[in-house]
Amino acid sequence: MEFELRPEQREIQELTREFARAEIDPHAAEWDREHLFPTEAIAKLAGLGLLGVCVPEELGGAGADFVSYALVLEELSRADAGVGVTVAVHTSAATLPLIAFGTAGQRGEYVPPLARGEVLGAFALTEPGAGSDAGALVTRAEQVDEGWRISGAKQWITNGSYAGTFLLFARTDPQTASARGVSAFVVDKAHVQVTREEEKLGLHSSSTADLVIDAVVSEDRLLGELHHGFRVAMSTLDGGRIGIAAQAVGIARAAYEVALAYAKERTAFGRKISQFQAIQHKLANMSMEIDAARLLTLQAAWLKDRGLPVTEAGAKAKLFASEMARRQTAEAIQILGGYGYTKEFPVERYYRDAKITEIYEGTSEIQRLVIARHILGQRRPERERHDP
Ligand code: CAA
Repeated sequence: MEFELRPEQREIQELTREFARAEIDPHAAEWDREHLFPTEAIAKLAGLGLLGVCVPEELGGAGADFVSYALVLEELSRADAGVGVTVAVHTSAATLPLIAFGTAGQRGEYVPPLARGEVLGAFALTEPGAGSDAGALVTRAEQVDEGWRISGAKQWITNGSYAGTFLLFARTDPQTASARGVSAFVVDKAHVQVTREEEKLGLHSSSTADLVIDAVVSEDRLLGELHHGFRVAMSTLDGGRIGIAAQAVGIARAAYEVALAYAKERTAFGRKISQFQAIQHKLANMSMEIDAARLLTLQAAWLKDRGLPVTEAGAKAKLFASEMARRQTAEAIQILGGYGYTKEFPVERYYRDAKITEIYEGTSEIQRLVIARHILGQRRPERERHDP
């Protein structure tokens, strides 16, 4: 086993860390308070190649591996989780599936602008009536002379208001009401209408939008096999969940760093609070759980780099890291006491931002279902009952 990062992985990690300290840290509180999408910072990330970290060079990316990408997401999310999710969805939920499932023509047309960060990507699966049960989606795509008429509504689409390219899922077989009979499409900003920007508990520097689509797109917008788009969605989420795990590790690390520094400064009962066992135990648990979550995350990323199955490993990493981030950001508030509950320190932001990692790209309940199906060898039992 090899636990050392390779020099080029360390270099990308350092580059991102420096960028985050210089360009994100000074603004993150304001972006959160004012609900600002950091267009300029995202453009600078594009300039550094960080919007196509793990995209092959011949497609306009930096040609690094998935481990490097996970390191980038941890560093960005340590500074601002909203920036983290913007990059995560753009990369692993929009760009990578186009590489994995696209024809040579589709890869050549859509991937380079995404990898260079000239266009942002989004992943439009969720609908008002189809969240955890993603296969219940009702957006329809009907074959017409010019290609496909797609009509429906999508909800909670990360990057929705800023994306130029959307990976969108629609039902192509009207005889089905489940995951079977769904297909994946690549659509442009011009094909969709943003109807609402969501008000959220946290992640205020990211965009979460509702969309309506009623457009005709050409035949060649179908991505992957007809009626088998759910495989595109699921294998995309297999990789995406590793990215969310890295995001959760970054948020928890941010909270730990603030709590550690505070504990060494704050005096109570005549001593630094870091000298009290109650605080020491909290810090020890934080440090241990962050390390454990990072190991699960990097192991899943390492498996992905080797082309090995990641469904179970990605679900485990995301499940553990997200629940850890929620627990440990709460502990950071506890260490800071009253100050932790105020806007004077950033830990309340970390707590609000951590919560979503237990929900998006599959809730903790769905991660447990995915893991259980794998360890019990049970794939899709409930679904078969509904299919005609
Ligand atoms: N890889 C490839 N294919 C897979 C797969 C995987 N990991 N898992 C399932 N599939 C395929 C199956 O083989 C099957 O394909 P065929 O019909 O072509 O043979 C098809 O997908 C349906 O599979 P299931 O019967 O297992 O589907 P299901 O309806 O039982 O659903 C589920 C399974 C795990 C519950 C799934 O619905 C799920 O993951 N739900 C959560 C949805 C989710 O994560 N949403 C996140 C939204 S995006 C987001 O959050 C982004 C963001 O903003 C940050």
